[in-house]
Amino acid sequence: MTSFAIVGHLARTDGNFSINDLPGSGGRMDILCRCVNASLFLSHDLRRDVDCYLVLLGAPSGPKTVKFSGASVRSLSPDERSAAALIKKVIDVPCGSEFREGADGVSIRKGGLERLAQDMPLAVLDENGEDIRKAPALPGAFLLSDHLNFTDAENELVRDCPRYSVGPKCLHADHTITVLHNELDRRMSGWK
Ligand SMILES: C[S@@+](CC[C@H](N)C(=O)[O-])C[C@H]1O[C@@H](n2cnc3c(N)ncnc32)[C@H](O)[C@@H]1O
Repeated sequence: MTSFAIVGHLARTDGNFSINDLPGSGGRMDILCRCVNASLFLSHDLRRDVDCYLVLLGAPSGPKTVKFSGASVRSLSPDERSAAALIKKVIDVPCGSEFREGADGVSIRKGGLERLAQDMPLAVLDENGEDIRKAPALPGAFLLSDHLNFTDAENELVRDCPRYSVGPKCLHADHTITVLHNELDRRMSGWK
């Protein structure tokens, strides 16, 4: 089982955004949608053993986390608007601190990174971290940021977490997920 969590610092926390303007009205929701796709899609198939968590921190209603479960998600196609439509479907579902499903395989709860870090041991993906190719073993849950740096408070929350780098260049978050998947795929299938 592999999980990816992406912090969307400006990502809208209600349904008041347009599928046609995910960068603006959605608070860079486009980045998060691409991360959903990079996390879950193979060519003509889904990675059923992967979950993708979107930590939404934008206006207007405090932190919320949307979870896409590869095992049970339906009606998701590999384009940003499809993932965004599912986010829009669940985002105003009344919820508390436990995940509540609002569409097949897509659920939402109140709470952000602090709560997520209590649920699972996170490893931070960071271009200055340890080279994944040199790591003897890799963990199962990875944290990324969107287009912005992690805040000081977020860095403090994950201060003791391991940090891994997929390479020397700073990549887009969704591209980082693809490279990480490639490394995990190679390890799982015995490629050197
Ligand atoms: C577009 S980058 C963030 C840009 C950066 N915060 C800035 O403003 O300069 C998005 C995220 O992808 C991940 N990332 C990018 N390049 C990486 C690399 N080479 N190794 C590991 N993670 C990387 C990090 O989690 C990063 O926060």
